Amino acid sequence: MLDIKSYLRQQSEFINKALESYIPTGIPKPLFEAMAYSLTVGGKRVRPILVLESAKAVNKEVKVEDFIDIALSVEFIHTYSLIHDDLPAMDDDDLRRGKPTCHKVFGEAIAILAGDGLLTYAFELISNNRTLDSKVLIKIVNVLSHNVGIYGMVGGQAADILEDFKDIEFIHLNKTAKFLSACCQIGGIVASAKEDEIERLKNYGIYTGLAFQIWDDILDEIGDEEKVGKRLHKDKEKNKITYPAVYGLEESIKIAKNYVEKAKNEIKNLQNPDILISIANYIVEREL
Ligand code: IPE
Ligand code: IPE
Ligand code: MG
Ligand code: MG
Ligand code: MG
Repeated sequence: MLDIKSYLRQQSEFINKALESYIPTGIPKPLFEAMAYSLTVGGKRVRPILVLESAKAVNKEVKVEDFIDIALSVEFIHTYSLIHDDLPAMDDDDLRRGKPTCHKVFGEAIAILAGDGLLTYAFELISNNRTLDSKVLIKIVNVLSHNVGIYGMVGGQAADILEDFKDIEFIHLNKTAKFLSACCQIGGIVASAKEDEIERLKNYGIYTGLAFQIWDDILDEIGDEEKVGKRLHKDKEKNKITYPAVYGLEESIKIAKNYVEKAKNEIKNLQNPDILISIANYIVEREL
């Protein structure tokens, strides 16, 4: 049987290797150092892995080298979102991926700009791809920008910091699930998946993403700081609306597991669903 933990470790090492040659150079030194620091300091690489595995799920013959830059671009965007999420004006965190947060090392101004740089460069990277058809690239830009922008992550992050906003489903769907769903859709798009397959990957990503953020909330309450690599118990301290806060721990675990079942159900009839199924299972078992 597939050991998903070691498979994901191996895939994240593959992403890390590929990433090395894509970190932009020829820019002001502190900006480069801050971007490079946050990109290489760790991370599970779940989003680029979802791009690769969603592509493989619909087409075994897919050539990863044709779209590795696309897979990396989502990690650039994710890293930007973490740098900004940790800023004093947002969650005010000092530990990320087991290391001091970007603004703690480089100062707030450079951290903000490093985030801006990563987000913008991600789209430059996509448009630089010379293998995929330009119509495919525009589709990717559309799906990605829609889901990480005002109709997705940025909207969700705004709702997350509003004190009187109480719709937890909206927050989790927008700040986290839509981005994971975009990664899955992009995998389908680069692999020339049929419309109904892309729809299935989209739904898989939403359910998986909801489970992922619920589990992140759960880890904030009962995780091990050493393993998770972030300050824990911060959500309660900051009065954040989370699944455990609304539903309690046990019920939250049930809800997360239920989303995982729904996720698996969506993609079980694709050509090669096994890895995506294992990834969904892993989300509600993970300790980091
Ligand atoms: C953290 O994402 C932010 C959330 C959406 C919960 P990850 O848990 O994927 O963070 P890294 O990339 O592994 O550090
Ligand atoms: C984060 O949610 C979501 C992002 C979109 C960056 P959290 O604020 O709970 O993420 P962590 O716990 O800081 O990683
Ligand atoms: Mg946050
Ligand atoms: Mg945070
Ligand atoms: Mg959290």
